[in-house]
Amino acid sequence: MIQVPEFSITRIEAYIKKGQYSKIIVLCDENTSRLCMEQLVKELPMPIERITLLPGEHSKNLENAAYIWDQLLELDADRKAVLINLGGGMITDIGGFCASSYKRGIAFINLPTTLLGMVDAAIGGKTSINIRHYKNQVGLFAFPEAVFIDPVFLGTLPKRELIAGYAEILKYGLIQETKVSQQEEDKYSDQKDLLWEYIKYEEPVNIPDWIPIIKTCVDLKEAVVAADPKEKGLRKILNYGHTIGHAIESFSLDIDEVPLLHGESIAVGMIAEAYLSYKKTGLSKEALNDISAVIIRIFGKYIFENPGYDDLIHYMHMDKKNQADEIRFVLLEKIGKALYDVPCTIKEIKESLDYYLTL
Ligand code: GLY
Repeated sequence: MIQVPEFSITRIEAYIKKGQYSKIIVLCDENTSRLCMEQLVKELPMPIERITLLPGEHSKNLENAAYIWDQLLELDADRKAVLINLGGGMITDIGGFCASSYKRGIAFINLPTTLLGMVDAAIGGKTSINIRHYKNQVGLFAFPEAVFIDPVFLGTLPKRELIAGYAEILKYGLIQETKVSQQEEDKYSDQKDLLWEYIKYEEPVNIPDWIPIIKTCVDLKEAVVAADPKEKGLRKILNYGHTIGHAIESFSLDIDEVPLLHGESIAVGMIAEAYLSYKKTGLSKEALNDISAVIIRIFGKYIFENPGYDDLIHYMHMDKKNQADEIRFVLLEKIGKALYDVPCTIKEIKESLDYYLTL
């Protein structure tokens, strides 16, 4: 079941006491172990065991999943144990996957420490690992028992990580107005009320209070997930920018010494997919220019070579939203309104990459 997050880590003590867990095991990476663990441990009513991974998307693999299962056994974790996932999307994805399969499922709690984790990865019940460099190929829908979101952890993030998380916030701005149910009236008669109109002017490193922005994103995600928990249809809109973005991310993991972060890759994908939206679903030229300018201002540009296009297309074919041989996209009718399952040809996709590279 979807859990409404608590917006302070101080609530965790009461929660753990109520759960009467036999053991607390914290899954962390070397960064969250160093920078966030102390803060967590002082809120907990009993001692913990810890399992530590190397940071970064490369760690979200089968070897580490086996390592976590092995460590859970080694630590004598029984079915009343709880795994607290302390970290970004890599930790909550692999931790959720391992907890929900270990002994056919033990409880897990997500404690996201990155902006991206707070607004997206830690909520909504997706858990997974990557296979080779293909993203999220093995996993299951499994909801955490609780999620605690505390912006205090954002202070531990390098600037680059914080900015990368902002990509998912921009994504919510671009899909916010999509109707969750058929009956729903148009929600935003005044364009000024749209999240996009507010966040597009912000510099992520200068935002003094994250709570209102995070809450808006979380509310939006919860409404979409409640309507379509297993991504049969509507939930796909949460993947705007991700078809091309995931391909860029896998490609970069493959070839770059310092690979792009997830959010940085999605930023590229959101521009290319805005171009496809302009070509196919009626997004205006002004909106395309607006989206491109905002994203390039915040993220700069990722330079890749045109010969890489075929690799990117190959990765796109692996995207879970596809059926048969088609590559399907979430595209925009206008800023705020998304459509899903829009097929695009290879020629159109290559044209969208050309568009990105000419910016
Ligand atoms: N990250 C997209 C989703 O949770 O559906």
